[in-house]
Amino acid sequence: MTSVVPFFDPRRAYVAQQDAFDAVCRRVLASEQIVLGPEVEAFEREFAGLTSTAEAVGVASGTDALELALRALDLPTGSEVVCPDLTAAATPTAILRAGHRPVLVDVDPETLTIDVERAASAMTARTAAIVAVHLYGRPAAVARLLELGLPVVEDAAQAHGLVVDGRPAGSLGQAGCFSFYPTKNLGAFGDAGAVVTSDRRIAETVRELRTYGERPRHYAHRQGTNSRLDELQAALLRVRLARLAGDNRRRAEIAAVYDQALGRVSPPGVHHLYVIRSQQRESLRSRLAEAGVETAVHYPWPISAQPAFSSARLGGELEASRAAADAVVSVPCNAHLTPGEVERVATALAREGSLGSPRP
Ligand SMILES: Cc1ncc(COP(=O)(O)O)c(C=O)c1O
Repeated sequence: MTSVVPFFDPRRAYVAQQDAFDAVCRRVLASEQIVLGPEVEAFEREFAGLTSTAEAVGVASGTDALELALRALDLPTGSEVVCPDLTAAATPTAILRAGHRPVLVDVDPETLTIDVERAASAMTARTAAIVAVHLYGRPAAVARLLELGLPVVEDAAQAHGLVVDGRPAGSLGQAGCFSFYPTKNLGAFGDAGAVVTSDRRIAETVRELRTYGERPRHYAHRQGTNSRLDELQAALLRVRLARLAGDNRRRAEIAAVYDQALGRVSPPGVHHLYVIRSQQRESLRSRLAEAGVETAVHYPWPISAQPAFSSARLGGELEASRAAADAVVSVPCNAHLTPGEVERVATALAREGSLGSPRP
């Protein structure tokens, strides 16, 4: 078989709504304002609506969203901020850039989201906040983390549209941070991000920080940065936002097909990634590649194994995150796969399931 089921193909999102995207590009390129204008404001209103928060603030990336949200908490410089050891490098990077020290905590061996008991025992007098990551679109236990008494920032970069006990991801903690990197459940055609919050002070501070710390314009009263969202990305995101619920339903259908092929039940969530685990990861990946199924690994190294984060404190044993990093494999799961491609992945997974190798 020559064709391959791609892990992610950005062209498909474009083709699916091509007329709408083309119209948006013409409209924005012919408009007077192309950065932080009416499209950004409209997107912010719509995204705040989706997340049931009072405000959304568009920024340049998910990493910036996390950094600026943490800075807006006004924690003492050099505070410790807890985060899971299994996450994108962006999470601890943002903590460091906000002037704090990451404290790396193990994940729950089943869901691979942060282990709340481990987070509790990792806290010291210097610990000032927690970043909860909804990894793979699975809900981190934010309500239980909030009981530890510290502000919780949600890293919801993989969790657009996730609802937990009736409340949207992003609205569960003090602030929610989203990435709109193209592969995300809600993806732009470039980099973009947003902070959502119902705390007006946090929203106002992030607005200042994204434009050099200026208020009023040309008067920087705190040190900020440039993290503006441009009109084109905001307008394209508005087009895609209208399809998010349907896209997430399609992801859930695909996850159910894969579950059935493997005889497993996926953890709940919005299936940003469909992840299986194998002790023989490389041979599993080779067999899937031979069957024409592209795979990826999220993530091959835990944060604690990466030199850039050597200044982080290890908040206890990290055996689950380390074991997961050696075993996880992501297979294609997005709303633009064709039924034939889904079938092909499912057939390949069923074969693996009969070999007994992968586990949820
Ligand atoms: C869990 C997580 N946090 C943060 C980010 C950072 O987002 P961005 O790439 O938009 O900076 C990402 C995306 O890559 C992510 O997956």
